[in-house]
Amino acid sequence: MAFDIEMIKGVYAQMKERVDAAKSVVGRPLTYSEKILYAHLFDGTASEAYKRGESYVDFAPDRVAMQDATAQMALLQFMQAGKPKTAVPSTVHCDHLIQAKVGAKIDLQDAINKSSEVFNFLESVSNKYGIGFWKPGAGIIHQVVLENYAFPGGMMIGTDSHTPNAGGLGMVAIGVGGADAVDVMAGMPWELKMPKLIGVKLTGKLSGWASPKDVILEVAGILTVKGGTGAIVEYFGEGAENLSATGKGTICNMGAEIGATTSIFAYDDASERYLRATDRSEIADMANELRDYLRSDNEVYENPEKYYDELITIDLDQLEPRLNGPFTPDLMTPVSKMKEIATKNEWPTTVEWGLIGSCTNSSYEDLSRAASIAQQAVDKGLTTKASFGINPGSEQVRFTADRDGILKPFQDLDAVIFTNACGPCIGQWDREGADKEEKNTIVHSFNRNFKKRADGNPNTYAFVTSPEMVAAIAIAGRLDFNPMTDYLTNDKGETFKLEPPVGEELPDLGFDVEDRGYEKPVEDGSKVEVIIKPDSERLQLLEGFQPWSGENIAGAKLLIKAYGKCTTDHISMAGPWLRFRGHLDNISNNTLTGAVNAFNQETNKVKNQLTGEYGAVPDVARAYKAAGVPSVVVGDENYGEGSSREHAAMQPRHLGAVAVLVRSFARIHETNLKKQGMLALTFTNKADYDKIQEDDTFNFIDLVDFAPNKPLTIELVHKDGSAEQITVNHTYNEAQIEWFKAGSALNLIKKQQA
Ligand code: F3S
Repeated sequence: MAFDIEMIKGVYAQMKERVDAAKSVVGRPLTYSEKILYAHLFDGTASEAYKRGESYVDFAPDRVAMQDATAQMALLQFMQAGKPKTAVPSTVHCDHLIQAKVGAKIDLQDAINKSSEVFNFLESVSNKYGIGFWKPGAGIIHQVVLENYAFPGGMMIGTDSHTPNAGGLGMVAIGVGGADAVDVMAGMPWELKMPKLIGVKLTGKLSGWASPKDVILEVAGILTVKGGTGAIVEYFGEGAENLSATGKGTICNMGAEIGATTSIFAYDDASERYLRATDRSEIADMANELRDYLRSDNEVYENPEKYYDELITIDLDQLEPRLNGPFTPDLMTPVSKMKEIATKNEWPTTVEWGLIGSCTNSSYEDLSRAASIAQQAVDKGLTTKASFGINPGSEQVRFTADRDGILKPFQDLDAVIFTNACGPCIGQWDREGADKEEKNTIVHSFNRNFKKRADGNPNTYAFVTSPEMVAAIAIAGRLDFNPMTDYLTNDKGETFKLEPPVGEELPDLGFDVEDRGYEKPVEDGSKVEVIIKPDSERLQLLEGFQPWSGENIAGAKLLIKAYGKCTTDHISMAGPWLRFRGHLDNISNNTLTGAVNAFNQETNKVKNQLTGEYGAVPDVARAYKAAGVPSVVVGDENYGEGSSREHAAMQPRHLGAVAVLVRSFARIHETNLKKQGMLALTFTNKADYDKIQEDDTFNFIDLVDFAPNKPLTIELVHKDGSAEQITVNHTYNEAQIEWFKAGSALNLIKKQQA
């Protein structure tokens, strides 16, 4: 048993009381999401009603899940907190660092050879701090979470954007950055703006070729890639109750593509069936006792327009399969219109690859429905016109599907069975010929289809669809193939139409597996040694940042005055730098290299005031640091927008910057800077941005009086010796000022721990 039953009992034990209290404080019936949110307040029972889309609220999630790429820095930071164990049950899943090339066995061994130091580190650190470890090949994080950890009424965070997949089993599950995971694992409150609510009422029942994937492809078409921002999408209605738990997982998973905070379905019979099939009857029994609390109140279902900020209705009876793409997941085309639209847009209609898998669509049901299509081709003596690849979602799914003969028709069609991992979905695909950058089309059952995402080729037109449609299109080899109307011809000249897919929601014989790939941590991890090679390029133990000296900071030099947009990608680029995510010093060599210098409009070329010469931003920062000179970063509006990547705050701090002074911040980045012990400041008068000159020195003249709601004063000393003072604002509260004084939030936790 991988899940923590005592924790779940604890959540259910307080659910009724907390939800009832919230209802009386809020003074109206509650939606299911609100029930879960109010049941997970960090301070316990609700004492006030929070405004959706406005109030910032401290939550206490029940679990944390991390994938291998993001877990590295999260865990390196967590080690700084000085805690013997994580405060909540947590898991690590090795799924992103495995490249798909020739097939599961060889590819997996290859990944282990290439990334063993990262896997060994994650394994040892998990063992030490009581974290469940899922080995490479065990499966994709969200499928493994759905099978083992998701539970109705729970709340979790995960360091991956498709964490909302667990909403299929009634959980508020939110994708976050590593710094947030560290907070929760260290027992700190986790802050979130109270989300807005979008209701999606599903009527009718899916039939024929329509699948749960088509529901979310339709929603993405309606709401677009930004339409869900800051909101939880809550699905309900008789149509919702006609879906399987894994089908609901597919829908929730792709809520990330419309920017939603998360997506969720209420607890129902399908959830119960899935819990029992995955060996969690104890949870199903407890959930049955709480059914009224694991769904919205009846009044919400009767008058949804009163309780949701936005309401959409979709009739499942009318839904036909869709293909979304290319290059964006919200460009929705119903299969019956594809011929016309593909011709109009000159999309290449010959399909080169069909890929089934990813966290979105790799359940037993998905594979069995796609297999029913593949079997028809085998029976008629057809081969696939396109190449065909499958990534099962977990070893449990793969083993069971293999036992039940579900993989056989794929193998008969010469499909490659890749490792139970992300593979092509995250660009971990060594696709032959991709470097030629030829224009071509692929179809897949994944969630994202941005340029270059799957194979690095900017000219690959990727279309997102259901696994059964991928199978049909791979067989036909054409993007505009409509299996409901079009015929296929075999070598004997016989023509026929494919029958609609049939599949099993759950395996009749139950799930089975020989080795799930799970490693339970030891009870007492105090003796476990964390494995990091001293000369490793990819991993580096963190040293706590220096605490504040208690004096005003004087003589700080301008590192860069960034012009215009400066996102977390400009501050800490991704791409090839991903391999250094666990090595702060090495990844710091990309610090602000994408930011435009306001004085010369060039990137990665700033003046070193100590020598008068120009150099790369990281080099100049290192020169100041070596000389014991603090530095300051200046930026424009919405500085640090983009991802919640904590590296963007840690790197400048590591290179000796003490403050980031901007016109305005993206909120998450501002908080990340505070957590890393930096001064995150904004110009009181935005026009003062223009006063900053290339050779400026910054003297903080009243930092010793740093207090909430009190602006600070900086003296700017210009090259000609003239000086002027500016006021700068900040949003630090008492507790956050303590982070600054201690050198970082983690230093403070460590101090308190000691
Ligand atoms: Fe992996 Fe792709 Fe999901 S990268 S976690 S399979 S979105």
